[in-house]
Amino acid sequence: MTKKLLEVLSGEAVWPPPVWLMRQAGRFLPEYRAVRATTSGFMDLATTPEKAAEVTLQPVRRFGMDAAILFSDILVLPWALGQDLTFEAGEGPILPPIRDAAGVAALDTTKVRPAIRPILETVRQVHASLKEDASNGGTDATLIGFAGSPFTVACYMIEGGGSKEFANVRAMAHGQPELFAELMEKITTATITYLSAQVLAGAEAVMLFGSWDGILSPRLFRTHAIAPAARIAAALRSRFPRVPFIGFPRLAGLMIGEYVQKTGVQALALDTSAEPTLAAGMIPSHVAVQGNLDPLALVAGGAALEDETAALLAAMRGRPHVFNLGHGILPQTPPEHVAALIAQIRGA
Ligand code: CP3
Repeated sequence: MTKKLLEVLSGEAVWPPPVWLMRQAGRFLPEYRAVRATTSGFMDLATTPEKAAEVTLQPVRRFGMDAAILFSDILVLPWALGQDLTFEAGEGPILPPIRDAAGVAALDTTKVRPAIRPILETVRQVHASLKEDASNGGTDATLIGFAGSPFTVACYMIEGGGSKEFANVRAMAHGQPELFAELMEKITTATITYLSAQVLAGAEAVMLFGSWDGILSPRLFRTHAIAPAARIAAALRSRFPRVPFIGFPRLAGLMIGEYVQKTGVQALALDTSAEPTLAAGMIPSHVAVQGNLDPLALVAGGAALEDETAALLAAMRGRPHVFNLGHGILPQTPPEHVAALIAQIRGA
């Protein structure tokens, strides 16, 4: 039996569409908070395979999601390259910022393979659990592996954490192009290693999270968002031709057509701002669209959620569509609203 999500990623329109939610393994779930409370922090959880596998599977068990996304973070890659990483409650990630040649030179791509071992063990354990559930007539959820896009990862590495504008990053990309290119090269190479290893461990599809790609000027978007994504997708395709690739160039706006054409992705994840019918018209009809319900509609629930969901379902009917949010689920989302959303989609 073909899994519903993989069917859509192969270019089929499936009705009702498969559904999963970005950041579905996370703080909005009490069972996640319970496991998280047994750890010393986010990285402890992400590098303890039994616990990471458990929280990966929680949303699949509770809601019957069509995908399990590996529980990890896009910032595990800088950590694997040797950059310190901590997650402070309420503040998000903190890294020692990289602003000069010495900082870039200190990143060590040979550290990646040993560092990611516990993450790969999580992938293996989730893969085994899903297989066992499937053979018992249970879930047919697809296991998705992921990484951040090189530019988005560079944003956090240079800025040292989150930011509204990532001004230091854009200043380096424009003002120190050679240093910036060297950093991007290291991240891109490490990302290919990391995603390939996830596939070998059992990931059945991969997604590249370009959460900040769209803040680049169109010229730099070509160089620093499209080109590295195309290189990563091509490397994965040559080794694993049957493993679909989902691209999420958030806020890419008018650049999505070129992104899809140059990267050859099987699915384009749309952010909340993209008008789905217009966006779908900019990409070939066999390329799946993933998205793009407003995470705040899911927080609101009730008629607001029903109306937004019905409109999105109707707009994407007849083309390959993976129902998802336009950005990650918010911690204040009531789990009952997620259950109502899934029921509405499945009843459509
Ligand atoms: O369920 C899933 O989607 C799988 C796990 C996952 C996490 N982060 C877990 C996480 C995935 C796919 C990510 C991706 C990620 N991480 C992105 C790209 C997607 C996006 O949302 O734009 C980005 C930009 C990050 C970086 C990051 N990680 C930030 C900015 C933060 C702090 C803000 C926040 O939401 O707390 C994190 C921490 C993080 N990553 C948490 C989780 C569940 C919360 C921390 C905790 O539980 O202590």
